Amino acid sequence: MAANWKMFKTRAEAVTTISTLCDKLYKASQERDVVIFAPFPSLADAVHAAQPCAFLEIGAQNFYPAVEGAFTGEVSAAMLQDVKVAWVLVGHSERRALFGESLELVAKKAAFALEQGLKVVFCVGETLEEREAGHLRKVLEAQLATLAQLPTSDVQVQNFAIAYEPVWAIGTGKVAGKTEIVEAHAIVRDILEEKLPHIGKNMRILYGGSVKPENATEIIHLANVDGVLVGGASLDAESFASIVLA
Ligand code: PGA
Repeated sequence: MAANWKMFKTRAEAVTTISTLCDKLYKASQERDVVIFAPFPSLADAVHAAQPCAFLEIGAQNFYPAVEGAFTGEVSAAMLQDVKVAWVLVGHSERRALFGESLELVAKKAAFALEQGLKVVFCVGETLEEREAGHLRKVLEAQLATLAQLPTSDVQVQNFAIAYEPVWAIGTGKVAGKTEIVEAHAIVRDILEEKLPHIGKNMRILYGGSVKPENATEIIHLANVDGVLVGGASLDAESFASIVLA
């Protein structure tokens, strides 16, 4: 169950939200893996605040796939690991669309992160135009083609998850319908089994795009949906806790 905080929350706000979340989820003593993708300046404090809850890990929303160097404005994998960040988000549609991240860069980031020992949530998803043109499978195949290039020994169920996020459902309040989610997740599963025969069957596929407490239970129980990636509704501890417990 993953939260993508995007460009929201100061350090103090991040710590308060995580502490509240820890409390609520700890009392419920449930067993789900939870990751919060927080903004860079809050990461160290977020890791500290999450220490009391074993099930809660912290992730970064971005990094640059090089050891170090003259890359003004970028953050390395080692810098993230230095503050005990466990996960990174790769291929989010906002990074692809707003910051021009290409399929090649996304592939390079996924491989580099795994090589450095970071766990990856790898996002895929089609735009409305692509869906309407009947290109859903083609788009997902192109985005997941990368997987065949990842060193098989590096990719494990514990350190790699896919998030299917139809671009038209992100931040729009428009959730994909049950049929659309099931159809897309079946395609993703199919591609995973083909590209990663050793683990494709068990790899976790999260759904993302306008997930809220009101629709989380239904979504999480659909075929091939193993979790959710939540943006807007993850900013409030109460709301995200009820999604985690859905
Ligand atoms: P949303 O964002 O839940 O606000 O639609 C999801 C995401 O971008 O990961």
